[in-house]
Amino acid sequence: MALVTTTEMFKKAYDGGYAVGAFNVNNMEIVQGITEAAGELKSPVILQVSKGARAYANHTYLVKLVEAAVIENPEIPIALHLDHGDTFELCKSCIDGGFTSVMIDASSKSFEENIALTKQVVEYAHDHGVVVEAELGTLAGIEDEVVVEAGHESYTRPEEVEEFVSRTGCDSLAIAIGTSHGAYKFTAAQCTRNADGILVPPPLRFDVLEECIKRLPGFPIVLHGSSSVPQEFVKMVNQYGGNMPDAVGIPEEQLRKAATLAVCKINIDSDIRLAMTGNIRKYFAEHPDHFDPRQYLKPARQAVKDMVAHKIKYVLGSDGKA
Ligand code: G3H
Ligand code: 13P
Ligand code: ZN
Repeated sequence: MALVTTTEMFKKAYDGGYAVGAFNVNNMEIVQGITEAAGELKSPVILQVSKGARAYANHTYLVKLVEAAVIENPEIPIALHLDHGDTFELCKSCIDGGFTSVMIDASSKSFEENIALTKQVVEYAHDHGVVVEAELGTLAGIEDEVVVEAGHESYTRPEEVEEFVSRTGCDSLAIAIGTSHGAYKFTAAQCTRNADGILVPPPLRFDVLEECIKRLPGFPIVLHGSSSVPQEFVKMVNQYGGNMPDAVGIPEEQLRKAATLAVCKINIDSDIRLAMTGNIRKYFAEHPDHFDPRQYLKPARQAVKDMVAHKIKYVLGSDGKA
């Protein structure tokens, strides 16, 4: 199977009450960990590349790594997506350069500017057989290199979604319902603490999601900032010399619930970073004499694979849906 767009994936996910995982890729080990898990579980998967990933690894290397994953996993649909494109030129470069899906994130602009830029990208993308994700509302964390502090995010206004989608022609819509980018999604003041002293975040705004679904029946919704920040990895990082106090993510059961609704794409990056960093720190602490990158990248890649397999089975519900 060649690289696919997300059109068919999202239709099946919407009808089947599950979501497709969109995982950020920056190097070979990450691509392999994600696609080995998806391949073994017969799950569709989206590999997404940010502007920062392109700057780090180079467009061509990333496209070729993803193409290699497609060859190695012929039985599953794989889409290659631009994450948080912030200009027409960046989207065009990815459309011209082999991506099957792009995000134009003009969510920090005014409603009218967001519509104008999104529409421009949609026209070019559709002419080239590529689909477009757009965004309304702002998440806390980092978007478009704009840092939005916790407490200054703004939820999507459901009364705007219909007009936005019909005027832009976008194929999916990312909305803000309380998720947030990064490993520190909420301040301690926004959370309560459980008996173990772990922060418990405020619940996602399912009322906002339900309102959007009512206004956009059958339309695929996307959730960014959906890492759960597994505490086992945070503990591992901290135990082996790291310092990540009060890192907290979105509880898995809330993401599972969103996946049964209209949410067809769930974005996960920070959990990959944590899985790799925790395991590399542990490896270095336990083998201070080792210096071959293959030795410490092997358990890191395996940790990515195990984490993605867990998401596919217990959070996304996409296993067996290839
Ligand atoms: O939403 C942002 C993603 O986690 C990508 O992060 O821009 O540091 O590659 P990045
Ligand atoms: P996390 O930081 O929660 O992994 O979110 C990733 C994301 O939304 C990428 O676009
Ligand atoms: Zn994002």
